[in-house]
Amino acid sequence: MFLKYIHHLLIIVFAYSLISLEARNHRRYRFVVKEASYNRLCEKKTILTVNGKFPGPTLKVHKGETIVVDVHNHGKYNISIHWHGVKQPRNPWTDGPEYITQCPIQPGRKFSQKVIFSDEEGTLWWHAHSDWSRATVHGAIIIYPKPGTYYPFPKPRAEVPIILGEWWKEDIMQVLEEFVASGGQPMDSDAYTINGQPGDLYPCSKHDTFKLKVKHGNTYLLRLINTGMNEIHFFAVAKHNLTVVATDASYTKPLTRNYIVIGPGQTMDCLMHANQDPGRYYMAARAYVNSPGIRFDNTTTTATVNYENGLYNPSELPYLPYYNDSSSALDFITSIRSLNSESHPTCAGPNGTRLAASMNNISFVNPKIDILEAYFYNTPGVFGKRFPDYPPLVYNYTADVIPLELLISKRGTQVKVVKYNSNVEVVFQGTNNVGGIDHPMHLHGYSFYVVGRGLGNFDEEKDSSNYNLEDPQHLNTVIVPKNGWAAIRFKADNPDFNFLEIGVWFLHCHFERHITWGMETVFIVRSGRGPKEHVLPPPHDMPPC
Ligand SMILES: *[C@@H]1O[C@H](CO)[C@@H](O)[C@H](O)[C@H]1NC(C)=O
Ligand SMILES: *[C@@H]1O[C@H](CO)[C@@H](O)[C@H](O)[C@H]1NC(C)=O
Ligand SMILES: *[C@@H]1O[C@H](CO)[C@@H](O)[C@H](O)[C@H]1NC(C)=O
Ligand SMILES: *[C@@H]1O[C@H](CO)[C@@H](O)[C@H](O)[C@H]1NC(C)=O
Ligand SMILES: *[C@@H]1O[C@H](CO)[C@@H](O)[C@H](O)[C@H]1NC(C)=O
Ligand SMILES: *[C@@H]1O[C@H](CO)[C@@H](O)[C@H](O)[C@H]1NC(C)=O
Ligand SMILES: *[C@@H]1O[C@H](CO)[C@@H](O)[C@H](O)[C@H]1NC(C)=O
Repeated sequence: MFLKYIHHLLIIVFAYSLISLEARNHRRYRFVVKEASYNRLCEKKTILTVNGKFPGPTLKVHKGETIVVDVHNHGKYNISIHWHGVKQPRNPWTDGPEYITQCPIQPGRKFSQKVIFSDEEGTLWWHAHSDWSRATVHGAIIIYPKPGTYYPFPKPRAEVPIILGEWWKEDIMQVLEEFVASGGQPMDSDAYTINGQPGDLYPCSKHDTFKLKVKHGNTYLLRLINTGMNEIHFFAVAKHNLTVVATDASYTKPLTRNYIVIGPGQTMDCLMHANQDPGRYYMAARAYVNSPGIRFDNTTTTATVNYENGLYNPSELPYLPYYNDSSSALDFITSIRSLNSESHPTCAGPNGTRLAASMNNISFVNPKIDILEAYFYNTPGVFGKRFPDYPPLVYNYTADVIPLELLISKRGTQVKVVKYNSNVEVVFQGTNNVGGIDHPMHLHGYSFYVVGRGLGNFDEEKDSSNYNLEDPQHLNTVIVPKNGWAAIRFKADNPDFNFLEIGVWFLHCHFERHITWGMETVFIVRSGRGPKEHVLPPPHDMPPC
């Protein structure tokens, strides 16, 4: 009888199970990466977008929420999407930087990315993290307080993302290709934008200028994001002060100024009181560049604040510090405190070299498969663990003249491995190699405290005794001053919030040209011994290489 034979033994265990409510209730968003046509500066151009929008869609969530974004690539380039400033506890899998935590999503493919919010509250943003596509593939993330809790400031009448961007007439991938081929500086952008619009001062742009409608007597929350590729910006609104209340989705002590400074990658929530004669006022932004001889886009983007029933129609631009006004920039940058106590070479570099950038003398080279998977599956030969703790050579980093032999860096893919639960301090020391500049340094997976900042060479003994351990700024992107340093601290886990940022996290300068040149490395934070002290399992639909 056939009953006597078995070919497969199948044992089925019946049990009741629970599906986490949370998992079921994750809100889902659909991101379709595709080309769309846009008119700017009197020319029609095809750009890469999400859902045909530029800037892309705004994600609105509450603190602590988890969402899923289904990213479909209908474009012709590889793409990956990063949730800038979202800590993604234990979940580096869907963080986004290509060849760091994933292989890119190839044309025609899809990746469902879980975005796990934890302690962030305020404004963050999402952007492409492959080549230079983030120039047009980006959008705002607004994180509201948990239901039943409130802002630490009076409720504004309205809230508006103010997204600063950079626009090239040429195709951005072409800009990148030419720049890499030349070995020199990338070409300048043709315009800056506010919410996708260049504004009055550029040709063919007057009509579509972004307008913020206000009513006299009310207060508005401007959620500023600098999505720019290559420049730090000054921003201001004519005749109106701005009160900074949060940076990088972390509240600050209120700071009232008539201009702000915002680096690529950073966000800043500012209250604006509409207290002027009803009329129309300019808001404006332009570059802050403190390096003589460096060519840059020196144009000014504008938008307007339009009062209801406004008659007064002034035309003056707001006061903005001069392009190279580093003392105004530094004064602003160093005044922010957290709320709780807690020359352009036409081609190539000097003497037949190419321009590059490095950290501890290593110019980072992207591996062929991503570091996260190589680490998780123990694939040898993808990266090394010898990122040095200290620069290999101590010299006067900020000297006026740096000898050529100190300018040549090594190439490599070296990461820094950190033990679970360690307290980490990183001192970013700017150098005057090939000319100094401010650098916006961004760490994925964490917010860190900026405990110190100064000009010249960091002096471990003297400077560390002056750290601010009371109310240091809490950021994910810190502007390191030109020929100066900044010290940050973070804990390689965060028990306060019951989440642990274990895994593989990218550390890089947020100037796009500097990433291309190699100013980056990776932190691997090892797992602990406890049940929650390890990386979550990989999603089933990881993009293949
Ligand atoms: C801006 O702030 C300064 C200093 O607090 C104050 O003197 C000035 O009146 C304010 N201007 C406006 C338009 O509120
Ligand atoms: C901007 O740069 C252009 C070209 O380098 C120069 O001719 C112009 O004077 C500059 N404008 C300002 C306002 O600095
Ligand atoms: C800024 O640039 C101006 C004009 O090029 C120059 O006169 C001035 O000395 C510069 N200031 C600083 C602080 O570098
Ligand atoms: C440039 O390179 C040449 C040949 O290697 C060398 O002799 C010369 O000293 C270098 N120039 C500088 C400024 O170092
Ligand atoms: C480093 O170079 C700067 C700029 O030339 C100079 O002011 C400083 O004194 C130098 N520091 C040391 C330690 O030599
Ligand atoms: C960087 O590494 C290169 C290649 O090993 C070496 O020649 C150079 O002296 C190093 N420079 C510094 C500043 O460490
Ligand atoms: C796209 O990604 C795949 C997988 O990593 C890679 O093999 C391919 O070369 C990439 N294409 C381009 C144009 O970079």
